Amino acid sequence: MKRIEDYVISIPDFPEPGVIFRDVTGILEDADGLQLAVDLMQERIKDVDFDIIVGPESRGFIFGVPLAYNLHKPFIPVRKAGKLPRETAAVEYALEYGTGTLEIHKESIKPGQRVVIIDDLIATGGTNKGIIKLVEELGGVVVKAVFLMELKGLKGREKLKGYDVESVIQYE
Ligand code: PRP
Ligand code: HPA
Repeated sequence: MKRIEDYVISIPDFPEPGVIFRDVTGILEDADGLQLAVDLMQERIKDVDFDIIVGPESRGFIFGVPLAYNLHKPFIPVRKAGKLPRETAAVEYALEYGTGTLEIHKESIKPGQRVVIIDDLIATGGTNKGIIKLVEELGGVVVKAVFLMELKGLKGREKLKGYDVESVIQYE
């Protein structure tokens, strides 16, 4: 039986020389890989007391939605600027080069709601630090963040210090 790591395709020099890109599509295009990834992430939140799952466009949607479906919880999308039609809260977040803006519908999180954040990967942690800021601004409480992959060398975990962070696969 294949391990989850075996489904990840590592692409050298993408998107630029020197970077080894850990490609999630190798997991998605195999039915066993997809099921295993969702199961392994679900294992990490099945005993957590929470109300909603929040996940970022676009790869956070891939795993956030099946987990929300399986656990019968709502899924709240965080989107890049200008995509959400109702009133939003916005945060500027750090990209590898420069900054971007993430948005969430203001009325999608109620004060006191317990939030699990789901994403495919943590690299520098900029995206998910931004998401935490949005959730907390709306009064939500981040009880856990689960990533399928963690690029440890980029030290994203340090940006999320004080939060319960777990990853299924770690790369140095
Ligand atoms: C990727 C990935 C994470 C984020 C991690 O998304 O899916 O959300 O980067 O990087 P960080 O820890 O350095 O913030 P990306 O912004 O590339 O968007 P995509 O999911 O639409 O490809
Ligand atoms: N793989 C996928 N997404 C990424 C990576 C990676 O290695 N680095 C930053 N975002």
